[in-house]
Amino acid sequence: MYERYILPHLINCACGSPQIMKLRSQIVPKCSGRVLEVGAGSAINLQFYDPKSVEFVWGLEPSIGMRNKAKSNVAQSGIDWRWLDLPGEQIPLDDESVDTVLLTFTLCTIVDTRTALAQMRRVLKPNGKLLFCEHGLSADLNVQKWQNRINPLWSRLAGGCQLNRSIDLLISDAGFQINELSKINVPKMPSFAGFVYMGEASVL
Ligand SMILES: C[S@@+](CC[C@H](N)C(=O)[O-])C[C@H]1O[C@@H](n2cnc3c(N)ncnc32)[C@H](O)[C@@H]1O
Repeated sequence: MYERYILPHLINCACGSPQIMKLRSQIVPKCSGRVLEVGAGSAINLQFYDPKSVEFVWGLEPSIGMRNKAKSNVAQSGIDWRWLDLPGEQIPLDDESVDTVLLTFTLCTIVDTRTALAQMRRVLKPNGKLLFCEHGLSADLNVQKWQNRINPLWSRLAGGCQLNRSIDLLISDAGFQINELSKINVPKMPSFAGFVYMGEASVL
């Protein structure tokens, strides 16, 4: 009940604050060609895709609750949107078939990030790009301490979300080269959840 009906609403609210929407508006328009959005959630990013650059978007989202929450965003959008109802660890697409993989606030929740990132690398074309905007382990040691302390309880309440992942290391360890990276303390957000890694990577 909680995961299907309540959590999608909570996630949508938390991920829709003005500060987070501003970050989305900076990263999503960089998508081009055939796009795979992993953990697409309520399809909240749809409004920021540039229809002139994007051919279509595969919205990969394993949660039926989130896919239901996305219905109105998908219906209102002019972007060609195609659902994939599997987790990121099992991307059902051909090798080298995607121009852009987009990850926003999803790596925190994927259980097996290593396998999922290997799948993203597999489906990306050699000249494709991985765009990411993800919260994770803070650069501030005091905040890190709190992140580590509250993580067990937080992850149970927040659908498996982990507060303390080093997003840049996860991405580079998976065989990507990070070409652009900003680390941002998002204003007006609790510091334990407001340290964001945003950037672009390519296949090594
Ligand atoms: C915090 S929400 C973010 C949703 C959306 N990306 C956004 O920016 O608002 C995390 C999303 O990851 C999805 N998710 C959970 N496990 C996943 C997995 N193994 N592979 C892909 N997505 C997953 C969840 O269902 C949820 O929609």
